[in-house]
Amino acid sequence: MPARLKTYRAVAHLLSALDALGWRVGYRYGDRQLLEGVILPSLAAGVGAGHVLLVGCAWYTRDYPEFFTRARVSTLDVDPAKSPFGGRRHVVADMTALERHFAPASLDAVICNGVLGWGLNAPDDIEAAFSAAATCLRPGGHLLLGWNDIPPYNAVPPEAVMALEALHPDTIPGLDQHSVIALERNQHCYQAFRKPETKS
Ligand SMILES: C[S@@+](CC[C@H](N)C(=O)[O-])C[C@H]1O[C@@H](n2cnc3c(N)ncnc32)[C@H](O)[C@@H]1O
Repeated sequence: MPARLKTYRAVAHLLSALDALGWRVGYRYGDRQLLEGVILPSLAAGVGAGHVLLVGCAWYTRDYPEFFTRARVSTLDVDPAKSPFGGRRHVVADMTALERHFAPASLDAVICNGVLGWGLNAPDDIEAAFSAAATCLRPGGHLLLGWNDIPPYNAVPPEAVMALEALHPDTIPGLDQHSVIALERNQHCYQAFRKPETKS
Protein backbone atom coordinates (compact mmCIF):
# COMPACT_ATOMS: atom_id res chain seq x y z
CA MET A 1 0.00 0.00 0.00
CA PRO A 2 1.43 3.45 -0.89
CA ALA A 3 2.70 5.46 2.12
CA ARG A 4 0.26 8.33 1.42
CA LEU A 5 -2.69 5.93 1.55
CA LYS A 6 -1.38 4.44 4.81
CA THR A 7 -1.27 7.94 6.32
CA TYR A 8 -4.81 8.64 5.04
CA ARG A 9 -6.09 5.44 6.68
CA ALA A 10 -4.27 6.16 9.96
CA VAL A 11 -5.86 9.63 10.08
CA ALA A 12 -9.27 8.10 9.33
CA HIS A 13 -8.89 5.68 12.28
CA LEU A 14 -7.81 8.51 14.58
CA LEU A 15 -10.73 10.74 13.54
CA SER A 16 -13.14 7.82 13.94
CA ALA A 17 -11.84 7.16 17.46
CA LEU A 18 -12.22 10.85 18.39
CA ASP A 19 -15.76 10.84 16.95
CA ALA A 20 -16.62 7.79 19.07
CA LEU A 21 -15.49 9.78 22.11
CA GLY A 22 -17.93 12.54 21.17
CA TRP A 23 -15.56 14.91 19.33
CA ARG A 24 -17.29 15.80 16.05
CA VAL A 25 -14.19 16.47 14.01
CA GLY A 26 -15.30 15.29 10.56
CA TYR A 27 -13.03 15.15 7.54
CA ARG A 28 -11.25 18.27 6.31
CA TYR A 29 -9.92 16.75 3.08
CA GLY A 30 -10.73 18.40 -0.23
CA ASP A 31 -12.92 15.54 -1.46
CA ARG A 32 -15.24 15.89 1.55
CA GLN A 33 -15.18 19.67 1.35
CA LEU A 34 -16.27 19.49 -2.29
CA LEU A 35 -19.00 16.99 -1.46
CA GLU A 36 -20.27 18.79 1.62
CA GLY A 37 -19.67 22.36 0.50
CA VAL A 38 -20.77 22.23 -3.13
CA ILE A 39 -22.23 18.96 -4.40
CA LEU A 40 -24.69 17.98 -1.68
CA PRO A 41 -26.10 21.53 -1.19
CA SER A 42 -26.57 21.88 -4.98
CA LEU A 43 -28.18 18.44 -5.21
CA ALA A 44 -30.44 19.30 -2.27
CA ALA A 45 -31.59 22.47 -4.03
CA GLY A 46 -32.30 20.43 -7.16
CA VAL A 47 -34.33 17.65 -5.57
CA GLY A 48 -36.37 19.96 -3.34
CA ALA A 49 -39.02 17.91 -1.57
CA GLY A 50 -38.14 14.70 -3.40
CA HIS A 51 -36.97 11.36 -2.01
CA VAL A 52 -33.21 10.94 -1.60
CA LEU A 53 -31.36 7.72 -0.80
CA LEU A 54 -27.89 7.80 0.76
CA VAL A 55 -26.11 4.44 0.37
CA GLY A 56 -23.32 3.58 2.83
CA CYS A 57 -23.14 5.15 6.27
CA ALA A 58 -20.19 6.08 8.46
CA TRP A 59 -19.46 8.30 11.45
CA TYR A 60 -18.54 11.16 9.11
CA THR A 61 -21.76 10.93 7.05
CA ARG A 62 -24.08 10.97 10.07
CA ASP A 63 -25.14 14.57 9.36
CA TYR A 64 -25.61 14.17 5.59
CA PRO A 65 -29.43 13.85 5.77
CA GLU A 66 -29.47 17.38 7.16
CA PHE A 67 -28.32 18.79 3.82
CA PHE A 68 -31.72 17.81 2.44
CA THR A 69 -33.92 20.04 4.55
CA ARG A 70 -37.04 19.70 2.35
CA ALA A 71 -36.55 16.16 1.08
CA ARG A 72 -37.57 12.79 2.42
CA VAL A 73 -34.24 11.09 3.12
CA SER A 74 -33.59 7.36 3.43
CA THR A 75 -30.25 5.77 4.28
CA LEU A 76 -29.15 2.22 3.58
CA ASP A 77 -26.19 0.10 4.63
CA VAL A 78 -25.65 -3.64 4.52
CA ASP A 79 -23.79 -3.56 7.84
CA PRO A 80 -26.11 -3.39 10.88
CA ALA A 81 -23.26 -1.85 12.88
CA LYS A 82 -23.57 1.28 10.72
CA SER A 83 -27.23 1.86 11.69
CA PRO A 84 -26.36 4.49 14.34
CA PHE A 85 -24.94 6.60 11.52
CA GLY A 86 -28.06 6.29 9.36
CA GLY A 87 -30.92 8.74 9.19
CA ARG A 88 -34.42 8.52 10.71
CA ARG A 89 -35.49 6.25 7.85
CA HIS A 90 -32.69 3.70 7.75
CA VAL A 91 -32.71 0.35 5.97
CA VAL A 92 -30.24 -2.46 6.73
CA ALA A 93 -29.94 -4.13 3.35
CA ASP A 94 -27.61 -4.91 0.53
CA MET A 95 -27.80 -2.41 -2.34
CA THR A 96 -28.37 -5.40 -4.62
CA ALA A 97 -31.77 -5.79 -2.90
CA LEU A 98 -32.82 -2.14 -3.32
CA GLU A 99 -36.01 -3.04 -5.16
CA ARG A 100 -37.29 -4.91 -2.10
CA HIS A 101 -37.29 -1.64 -0.16
CA PHE A 102 -38.01 1.08 -2.71
CA ALA A 103 -40.64 1.16 -5.42
CA PRO A 104 -39.69 1.56 -9.07
CA ALA A 105 -39.32 5.24 -10.08
CA SER A 106 -39.71 6.37 -6.46
CA LEU A 107 -36.32 8.00 -5.83
CA ASP A 108 -35.28 11.46 -6.98
CA ALA A 109 -31.60 10.90 -6.16
CA VAL A 110 -29.30 8.08 -5.10
CA ILE A 111 -25.97 9.05 -3.55
CA CYS A 112 -23.58 6.14 -3.61
CA ASN A 113 -20.17 7.28 -2.41
CA GLY A 114 -17.45 4.89 -1.31
CA VAL A 115 -19.52 1.75 -1.77
CA LEU A 116 -18.36 0.56 -5.20
CA GLY A 117 -15.08 -1.20 -4.40
CA TRP A 118 -15.65 -0.81 -0.65
CA GLY A 119 -17.77 -3.93 -0.07
CA LEU A 120 -19.78 -3.84 -3.28
CA ASN A 121 -17.07 -5.72 -5.11
CA ALA A 122 -18.34 -8.77 -7.01
CA PRO A 123 -19.13 -7.93 -10.66
CA ASP A 124 -22.58 -9.59 -10.53
CA ASP A 125 -23.46 -7.73 -7.33
CA ILE A 126 -22.31 -4.44 -8.84
CA GLU A 127 -24.53 -5.01 -11.88
CA ALA A 128 -27.49 -5.95 -9.65
CA ALA A 129 -26.98 -2.95 -7.37
CA PHE A 130 -26.81 -0.32 -10.14
CA SER A 131 -29.56 -1.98 -12.14
CA ALA A 132 -31.77 -1.73 -9.05
CA ALA A 133 -30.74 1.89 -8.53
CA ALA A 134 -31.68 2.70 -12.14
CA THR A 135 -35.05 1.00 -11.67
CA CYS A 136 -35.80 2.82 -8.42
CA LEU A 137 -34.84 6.25 -9.78
CA ARG A 138 -37.66 8.26 -11.27
CA PRO A 139 -37.19 9.41 -14.86
CA GLY A 140 -34.91 12.46 -14.59
CA GLY A 141 -33.57 11.23 -11.22
CA HIS A 142 -29.91 11.64 -10.25
CA LEU A 143 -27.21 9.14 -9.35
CA LEU A 144 -24.10 10.57 -7.72
CA LEU A 145 -21.34 8.00 -7.69
CA GLY A 146 -18.15 8.36 -5.66
CA TRP A 147 -15.35 5.85 -6.10
CA ASN A 148 -11.57 5.51 -5.82
CA ASP A 149 -9.60 4.96 -8.99
CA ILE A 150 -6.74 3.09 -7.31
CA PRO A 151 -6.23 -0.60 -6.53
CA PRO A 152 -7.84 -2.47 -4.93
CA TYR A 153 -10.92 -0.21 -5.07
CA ASN A 154 -11.08 0.17 -8.84
CA ALA A 155 -11.23 -3.51 -9.81
CA VAL A 156 -14.59 -2.76 -11.47
CA PRO A 157 -14.58 0.89 -12.61
CA PRO A 158 -17.89 2.59 -13.54
CA GLU A 159 -17.18 2.36 -17.26
CA ALA A 160 -17.21 -1.45 -16.90
CA VAL A 161 -20.65 -1.47 -15.25
CA MET A 162 -23.24 -2.30 -17.91
CA ALA A 163 -26.15 -1.34 -15.64
CA LEU A 164 -24.95 2.27 -15.68
CA GLU A 165 -25.64 2.38 -19.42
CA ALA A 166 -29.33 2.73 -18.50
CA LEU A 167 -28.40 6.20 -17.20
CA HIS A 168 -27.00 9.20 -19.03
CA PRO A 169 -23.84 11.04 -17.96
CA ASP A 170 -24.86 14.26 -16.23
CA THR A 171 -23.08 17.27 -14.76
CA ILE A 172 -22.16 16.98 -11.09
CA PRO A 173 -24.46 19.25 -9.05
CA GLY A 174 -22.69 22.56 -8.50
CA LEU A 175 -20.01 21.81 -11.11
CA ASP A 176 -20.06 21.88 -14.89
CA GLN A 177 -18.44 18.50 -15.50
CA HIS A 178 -19.57 14.88 -15.47
CA SER A 179 -16.55 13.59 -13.58
CA VAL A 180 -14.00 15.07 -11.21
CA ILE A 181 -11.01 13.74 -9.29
CA ALA A 182 -11.70 15.35 -5.95
CA LEU A 183 -8.56 14.15 -4.16
CA GLU A 184 -5.39 13.16 -5.97
CA ARG A 185 -3.84 11.01 -3.27
CA ASN A 186 -6.64 8.46 -3.19
CA GLN A 187 -8.03 9.25 -6.67
CA HIS A 188 -11.45 9.87 -5.16
CA CYS A 189 -13.70 10.59 -8.13
CA TYR A 190 -17.25 11.84 -8.30
CA GLN A 191 -19.38 11.09 -11.34
CA ALA A 192 -22.96 12.09 -12.01
CA PHE A 193 -25.64 10.23 -13.96
CA ARG A 194 -29.26 10.93 -14.73
CA LYS A 195 -32.09 8.58 -15.66
CA PRO A 196 -33.48 9.55 -19.06
CA GLU A 197 -36.90 11.19 -18.99
CA THR A 198 -38.16 8.74 -21.57
CA LYS A 199 -36.85 5.38 -22.64
CA SER A 200 -34.31 5.76 -25.44
C1 LIG B 1 -16.25 3.45 2.96
S1 LIG B 1 -17.89 3.43 3.64
C2 LIG B 1 -18.63 4.74 2.71
C3 LIG B 1 -19.53 5.58 3.57
C4 LIG B 1 -20.15 6.80 2.88
N1 LIG B 1 -21.13 6.45 1.87
C5 LIG B 1 -19.18 7.82 2.36
O1 LIG B 1 -19.63 8.83 1.81
O2 LIG B 1 -17.96 7.67 2.53
C6 LIG B 1 -18.62 2.02 2.80
C7 LIG B 1 -19.95 1.61 3.37
O3 LIG B 1 -20.67 0.92 2.36
C8 LIG B 1 -21.31 -0.19 2.94
N2 LIG B 1 -21.54 -1.18 1.90
C9 LIG B 1 -20.61 -1.91 1.25
N3 LIG B 1 -21.19 -2.72 0.36
C10 LIG B 1 -22.52 -2.50 0.42
C11 LIG B 1 -23.64 -3.03 -0.26
N4 LIG B 1 -23.49 -3.98 -1.18
N5 LIG B 1 -24.86 -2.57 0.05
C12 LIG B 1 -25.01 -1.61 1.01
N6 LIG B 1 -23.99 -1.07 1.70
C13 LIG B 1 -22.75 -1.51 1.41
C14 LIG B 1 -20.36 -0.65 4.03
O4 LIG B 1 -21.02 -1.41 5.02
C15 LIG B 1 -19.81 0.67 4.56
O5 LIG B 1 -20.56 1.15 5.65
